[in-house]
Amino acid sequence: MSSNATTRIVGAPVPRKEGINKLLGRAQYVDDIERDGMWHGAAVRSAIPRGTIRSITYDPRIDWSELAVVTAADVPGENCIQLKVADQPCLADGKVNHCEEPIVLLAHPDKHKLGQAVAAVRIEYDPLPPVFTIEESERQDRIVWGENNLLESFLLEKGDVDAAWAEARQIVEGEYRTGAQEHLYIENNGMIAEYSAENGVTAWGSLQCPYYVFKALRGVFGLPEEKVRVVQTETGGAFGGKEDYPSILACHAALLAMKCGHPVKMVYDRMEDLAVTTKRHPSRVRHRTALNGEGKLLAMEIDLATDGGAYATLSSTVLSRATLHAAGPYACPNVRVRARSWATNHVPYGAFRGFGAPQAIFAMERHMDEVAAAIGLDPVELRRRNFLHQGDTNASEQLMREPVILDRLLDRALAESDYHAKRARFSRENPARTVKRGMGIAAFYHGSGFTGSGEVYLNSLAGVDVTPAGQVRVLVSNTEFGQGTNTILTQIAAEALGVDYSDVAMAAPDTAMVPNSGPTVASRTSMVVGRLVERASLQLVAMLREHAGLGAGYTRDEFLAACERQRAAHGEVRSLCRYEAPPGISWDDENYHGEAYGAYAWAVYVAQVAVDMVTYSAEVEEFWAVQEVGRVLNPVLAAGQIEGGVAQGIGYALYEKVVVENGRMANNQMTNYIMPTAEDVPPIHVYFEEIPFHHGGFGAKGIGELPHDGPAPAIVNAIRDATGIGFRAIPLLPEDLFARLASQESVEEPAAL
Ligand code: MOS
Repeated sequence: MSSNATTRIVGAPVPRKEGINKLLGRAQYVDDIERDGMWHGAAVRSAIPRGTIRSITYDPRIDWSELAVVTAADVPGENCIQLKVADQPCLADGKVNHCEEPIVLLAHPDKHKLGQAVAAVRIEYDPLPPVFTIEESERQDRIVWGENNLLESFLLEKGDVDAAWAEARQIVEGEYRTGAQEHLYIENNGMIAEYSAENGVTAWGSLQCPYYVFKALRGVFGLPEEKVRVVQTETGGAFGGKEDYPSILACHAALLAMKCGHPVKMVYDRMEDLAVTTKRHPSRVRHRTALNGEGKLLAMEIDLATDGGAYATLSSTVLSRATLHAAGPYACPNVRVRARSWATNHVPYGAFRGFGAPQAIFAMERHMDEVAAAIGLDPVELRRRNFLHQGDTNASEQLMREPVILDRLLDRALAESDYHAKRARFSRENPARTVKRGMGIAAFYHGSGFTGSGEVYLNSLAGVDVTPAGQVRVLVSNTEFGQGTNTILTQIAAEALGVDYSDVAMAAPDTAMVPNSGPTVASRTSMVVGRLVERASLQLVAMLREHAGLGAGYTRDEFLAACERQRAAHGEVRSLCRYEAPPGISWDDENYHGEAYGAYAWAVYVAQVAVDMVTYSAEVEEFWAVQEVGRVLNPVLAAGQIEGGVAQGIGYALYEKVVVENGRMANNQMTNYIMPTAEDVPPIHVYFEEIPFHHGGFGAKGIGELPHDGPAPAIVNAIRDATGIGFRAIPLLPEDLFARLASQESVEEPAAL
């Protein structure tokens, strides 16, 4: 297989494909684009978290004939943004279920006058009592969604958990919580849309998944495929925050374009983006763990709950990944994971890097340290005794067919960080100092690609072609948003085709030009789409050999000459491949059992943290990230993914708090939603162990989400090591540290029963 062969381009630190255009300011983001006669659009939003709309009135001091006004009554197709469940209206119709829910859309050629008009729409409500917490929602005495507030639930069972408690030497319990988190992509959400009766709808915007937006527009406008077109513009970051939300924004811009007969641009400013778009699901995870006398896991019972917000959006997908990652990378014969996502009257939560795994892994890896303390075992040793190995089954009873090298990752992480020596030194020094230091670790894995039969269902199609002008192109719907899609897919195509990196371009991310190779989510691009591009490229070479006289060894010019002969004979030079599941993969959706992911990426992370006992601030001083992600396609981009994920994980653990007051984000500005800056990000040491995965593009597995999973538990474990207090919730801000550390409370004893 090619993934074992020596490569020229795959594995090399080639420059980012679109890097020069970004560097020179030539890249066109949506807000850089102007259209003749373009108007600007805005939404008028719900001021209350739940209620019915009594009236909408328009202040007569505004000349409304200058504006396009759109309400639910103007939606030509289904008033519904359908992801998995048909519950979320494109525009509220009669009732609202969260603050900031869009009710009226306005467009005007002048942005300033548009703002005045937005302020001149008066909406009166009859409020209904809202639900704001997981606990209120699960009590079910106030039903705000469906029959029972339950957006989704999963039950995963392995072995016999109930029988295991009796055999346990020790049982350790713990409850862990994580907060919401904002994506903070540099570029806010934005979209431009055009509408005409002949051509239907075209939308250009900042987005991850052109075919998701395509589907949403088809539904809202009731249009056939040929009358909808979606084009991704240069996108400044996404992190999952442009997976679902752009569908809503594209529909809004397109409805206004239809109404006013002009192209309409809607670009959010930071305050609107923070207040109205999705965030990471808050979670509460309860663990009950049985151990035998040798420190081996006997049983794990995990109860996982998320706040899904007012509509289902991607809560099911997020909960699914949380369920499947909840028991961590450990071999345990008896596992039960009960997972539920509850509706509240918060702005809907959505996809965010890791899709529920960061929440689940925070709980699991914090709990491992509490278990270690309760049974008097070193936290490193507890993990080592319970690691999954090749041939074991994980919690969904997926057989680990591929090599599992957790021990090697752990050894390297300990050695590189000098973990044991530092830990010993810090524990000697801490009592005398106002700055206490500690070391914390986290071990984890992350499934690559869609869950279960998801990739089969996606049925992705990707390929390569050569244009009449001799340009070799990669044909995918997968998008670049800073993470490196363009570069790695070009590397793969160039390598497999035997041409240079600079000879290959990406076809425009435009549904009128490229096949549906699935969404750019779920750590699937390098592994799944990369493999499709590799196969399509090899297939093109075979075709040229067979039909166009391409020799065994060939130059770039010989390759292009063969392409010309192929074009003369067959009219085009094009090769497409469709997804095929690796052999032996079977997944039982009903029982949440089987091969949940094509492959897993593995990691051990170490954090060194200093807690200042005067200011109560915690600072990550140094960080070590050791992982196995299959073949590393581009070492610079791969290290960038890890460094960025760690930085985002540091924010998740220590800085980023979404403050919600009566259902509305109260700190929707970057002056008081605090993210880590260069000052707060320590040296991050990144190491890869490479084991090629033969069903991934040139041996690659997923890398994008993995690095967000481990930092938070490693950091909070390090704070436990420094202070003796095992904090159970993130974000962990100075006021939270103060509340526990200043009160001179003795170390909280873990709950050993
Ligand atoms: Mo992502 S959370 O898979 O867009």
